[in-house]
This record gives sequence, structure tokens and C-alpha cells, in this order.
Amino acid sequence: MTHTIRRKSKAEPAPPTTLFLFGAHGDLVKRLLMPALYNLSRDGLLDDNLRIVGVDHNAITDDAFAQKLEDFIRSEVAAKVGKGDQMLDPALWAKLAKGISYVQGDFLDDSTYSALAAKIAASGTGNAVFYLATAPRFFSEVVRRLGSAGLLEETPEAFRRVVIEKPFGSDLQTAEALNACLLKVMTEKQIYRIDHYLGKETVQNILVSRFSNSLFEAFWNNHYIDHVQITAAETVGVETRGSFYEHTGALRDMVPNHLFQLLAMVAMEPPAAFGADAVRGEKAKVVGAIRPWTVEEARANSVRGQYSAGERDGQPLNGYREEPNVSPDSTTETYVALKVMIDNWRWVGVPFYLRTGKRMSVRDTEIVICFKPAPYAQFRDTEVDELQPTYLRIQIQPNEGMWFDLLAKRPGPTLNMANIELGFAYKDFFEMQPSTGYETLIYDCLTGDQTLFQRADNIENGWRAVQPFLDAWQEDASVETYAAGEDGPKAAEDLLTRDGRVWHGLG
Ligand code: BG6
Repeated sequence: MTHTIRRKSKAEPAPPTTLFLFGAHGDLVKRLLMPALYNLSRDGLLDDNLRIVGVDHNAITDDAFAQKLEDFIRSEVAAKVGKGDQMLDPALWAKLAKGISYVQGDFLDDSTYSALAAKIAASGTGNAVFYLATAPRFFSEVVRRLGSAGLLEETPEAFRRVVIEKPFGSDLQTAEALNACLLKVMTEKQIYRIDHYLGKETVQNILVSRFSNSLFEAFWNNHYIDHVQITAAETVGVETRGSFYEHTGALRDMVPNHLFQLLAMVAMEPPAAFGADAVRGEKAKVVGAIRPWTVEEARANSVRGQYSAGERDGQPLNGYREEPNVSPDSTTETYVALKVMIDNWRWVGVPFYLRTGKRMSVRDTEIVICFKPAPYAQFRDTEVDELQPTYLRIQIQPNEGMWFDLLAKRPGPTLNMANIELGFAYKDFFEMQPSTGYETLIYDCLTGDQTLFQRADNIENGWRAVQPFLDAWQEDASVETYAAGEDGPKAAEDLLTRDGRVWHGLG
């Protein structure tokens, strides 16, 4: 049975706003943003006068644009907005659709921005959010033009906000340049940098579990924790994204952003309040405390892998070099394993091992907090050596939940021990509504809560911590291989074995 504790006030509908979706015909808008807006509308969290304005270069009428979105959601992503026979509700969609319109325009043409100004003037509210669901090369260009057109000027009655989503640069230097460009035309309070991992319930729950259950704090330090493993294993390959992935690779794609968000949630100090400044300040501090490896240390503490041809369930899988738009002699990594150390009082001496890869055996995103072994003196005559270490496993996806893997006495006259599990599975406690993972993020942006968004220093600290790995690999871009459908290269096992540890089994 669950007893629900709510915040004192029930969530109110977001204020009336004009929400501009740049890149209106792209996948992000169709697959995630519009379904998320529909779900927010279903839950009564949007103002009846929310205006949604698609902005893109193709010509299409307002009605045809709304219809296209509706058709796409019905045919491709119905499970994100409904269950069983309760898919997209026509009446609910109609309510949202009456506020949908479209501006045809080139992102680099000033007249596009005059058209946006006219939309705001006609909307009855000065509040506007500009969501850049575009290729990253447009971020600076669009923002600069929004600034010159005066569209980012706020008044006490009207907010102006910009949403962008990773990649925020491709290394420390480009990330700093992007932040400088954004901050030239608006303040940090107007910028909402999305990391979609922070939209996941299981990620948000790390903070709640840690800071609302005092027992966690008792062991959450280097006295009791031996090491931490953070894994994001994917079964998908690079699919149609070869040309993007070729110059990105697994490190840039996943580590300074998603994996460091998980690391920050696990490792940060308690914030003084659950507000944007306090939470983001603690996150910036802990990522800033990651030890800067020298180039030699970075090389020794990292493994780059690339999938070669393999199979899953008897079906052949391409190697990365055979994927579309990938060079046949590419050395881009599709897998990375790293060891990082956090130099602060809580974590000194506790390694954090991170790994992520495409085309692995299973999809599994998890954090494993591995406890130090107990002094086993009293169990000397048992099969102590065969016992697994004890740990807490936070399962981000799939099979969301949290499990302690502990030791217990196996029933019987002799003293034998066994590994047992104490667990919490979300599905046993909560009815999960269909969702995209963007609902909270969009709602928070419309209501002005930046807690789940990244500040400039969060981004730059992340790049600063991975820069030694990028530098090391620039000198030596050799890559280990692993067969598609397997769990990464042998060298990744060695990274832990040489420290006397092993990766937690996937799945
Ligand atoms: C994206 C990466 O940011 O995150 C993708 O660009 C990756 O390559 C994806 O597949 C993983 O997200 P999730 O939510 O499926 O773990």
C-alpha cells in the first residue's frame, strides 16, 4: 500500500505562453514534445490559452501542421499518450490543437523573427518560450537573432525563455563559446538546458531516496562504500545517425551529460533546499571535484571500444564500420569505460567506474553502489570467498526500481550463506502513466523552475572532467573491438580486474 505525500500546493496549470518549436518537422517535436504536451494537457497542467507555434522552412498551413502531428502520434507513438484502447482522445487533442499554428521561415532570415514577434503580439500574453529542437549548428545563430529582434527582453509581466538540448559543444572550448554566446543575449535565468535523463522518474528519485530516508546518509560515504559503477548499456546501434555519431562517439554522446548527471545525483552533497540554485550548485561542485587526470592517467583509466559484426537471438548484426554513413576504417568509439575519482571528503579513495555502449547484449541503465566487505572473521569456516559482494542497485531503466543485494543465512543446520535481494519495483507501488519523459521538463520550463536544467558551470565542469580523455585519444585513437550483442571489450574487464573488482552482470 502506498501513502502519498504531496507538496503543500497541488500543481497549478502553467501560465499562458506562446511556445515556439523551432525544427517543427523534426523527430523531437513529433515523437516527444507534442505527446508530452498532450499528456500535460490531459493532466490539467497547461493553460487553455497555450499557443504552440511550429517554426521550420517547409510550407504547410496551420491546420495541416496540426493534422500531421495528430496523425503521427496516432500511428507512431500512441503508447506514449494512452494505454490499451484509451489512445489519443479526440476531444483532448482538439483542445490542444486549437492553439497550434505554424510559421514558415528560414532560421537564418531576420524576417522569420518579425513573424514570431507578430505571433506574440497577437497572442494576448507576452510570455514566450523558444524551444530549439534544431540541429546544434543553429543554436548560436537562432539565439543571436532572437536577441537582435528584441524577443529575449523580459518585462515584470512577461518572461522570455530559451530551451536547448545537448550537445552543448563538443569539448570544453566549444562549450564555453556556446555559453558565452547565450549569455551575451540573455541571463542564465532565461536558459533551460535539457538533459533528458533528468526527466526520468528514476533519476529524480535518487535525490528523494537519498535525502528523505536518513538511513542512506549513514552509509553514503567512503567508510562503507567500496566503489560505484554507473552503466548505460544499449542494444541499439547507431541506426540512421552514422554521420552525427562518426564525429561524436560514445564519450561525447553519453558521458559529460547523461552519465555525469547520474554521478552527480549519487555523489552530490545534500542541497540546502530543493531549489534550482542549491541543487545545481551542489552538482557543479561534485563534478568539479572529479580529479583531473593527466593525459597518461586518462589513457590508463579508459577503454575505447567499437562493435564489430555479431549476432543477437540468431540474427546477424552489422559491425559499426558497415553502418550507413560510417567510414569503413572509422576509429570512432561506440563503447567507453572510464575510471574517475572524486577528490572530496565523502568520496576520496572510492573509484567511480562508468561504462556505456551501443549494441550490447541488453538494455540496462543502472547504478551499483558496492559496499565494502564486512570483516568475515566469524564466518571463517564458510564459503566466504564465493560470496558476492553486497550492493545497492538503482535500476534506472528498464524494470525501474531499487534493490539491496545482501547476505543471509541459508536455512539448515550448518552455517551457509546466500545472496538475497530486498527490493522496490516501481510497478509494484505506483501506477505509471504513459509518458515521454519530457512532461516534467516542459512543465518546469513553463513555470520557471530550473532545478532539473543544467547551468553553464554544470556543463563546463563536465567537459573539463572528460577533456583529458579526449586529449589522450587525440594522440592515440586506437580502438578495441567487441562483437555486436556482447558486453564490451575484454580491456573493460581488465580495467576493474586490476583493481580487484568486477563489473556487475548486465540485465
Ligand atoms: C541520447 C544519445 O542523448 O541518449 C543517444 O544521443 C542515446 O545516442 C540516448 O541512445 C539514450 O537515452 P535513453 O533515454 O534511451 O537512455
